[in-house]
Amino acid sequence: MSVHKDVKKVTTHVLQEMKNRGEKISMLTGYDFSMARIIDASGIDVILVGDSASNVMAGHETTLPITLDQMIYHAASVVRAVERALVVVDMPFGSYQGNSKEALSNAIRIMKETGGHSVKMEGGEEIIESIKRILTAGIPVMGHLGLTPQSIYKFGTYVVRAKEEDEANRLIHDAKLLEEAGCFAIVLEKIPAKLAEQVAKSVSIPIIGIGAGNGVDGQVLVVHDMLGINNEFSPRFLRKYNNLYEQMFSSFQAYISDVKSGDFPNENEQY
Ligand code: KIV
Repeated sequence: MSVHKDVKKVTTHVLQEMKNRGEKISMLTGYDFSMARIIDASGIDVILVGDSASNVMAGHETTLPITLDQMIYHAASVVRAVERALVVVDMPFGSYQGNSKEALSNAIRIMKETGGHSVKMEGGEEIIESIKRILTAGIPVMGHLGLTPQSIYKFGTYVVRAKEEDEANRLIHDAKLLEEAGCFAIVLEKIPAKLAEQVAKSVSIPIIGIGAGNGVDGQVLVVHDMLGINNEFSPRFLRKYNNLYEQMFSSFQAYISDVKSGDFPNENEQY
């Protein structure tokens, strides 16, 4: 029997049970009430309030500019819509990389002010002190390794990470470190599928991939990308389940034309 169909509320323990039973975990990003309500009703396991809100909601080129207050606004809107999914909230750039005490107070703000169920942080050994301190407060932490977009200016490009042995070994080391510290899951972004599968086999916690192949325990996509809202973004790993850009564009054009022609509103659409 599937764990997914049985549970009324997805918790970190449910995700662990899913991995133990070999049942794949589904995860999508969400940033606002209306979209999160549909995503949750569809039966998704995890909604990530990603700092990709910086790109898809605010139009920034990178995830770096989004602030803690802005993430809290998005996350609180999502939590108001969700009845079943586990809500993970990204800690934004600058809110956890320096001082671990500040990291903890920022994570506490997220939990108190949004009602979210956990936080996600990018990085391994270099941020382990912050991760451990947040975990001591009973806040579940999801890790994020591989292509970590908050470090884009260090990488210089969004190409696949850990193709070289050194970086691959460091990634495996970091994944084990995150597991030992007590993270409940790890996102692996844009790394070779074989390496991702190796990581998923070498740790017992769930590994959620994006551009990391099918040998991991679950998948995550940015909701705007999989719905085809942004028609300019088509990386190899992305499967588009719709072409909402075109559908929305033609709906807007039809509306404009109806208004201009006087066809809208008709007799039944007025008081
Ligand atoms: O912010 C985000 O959307 C993410 C996903 C790409 C995993 O971190």
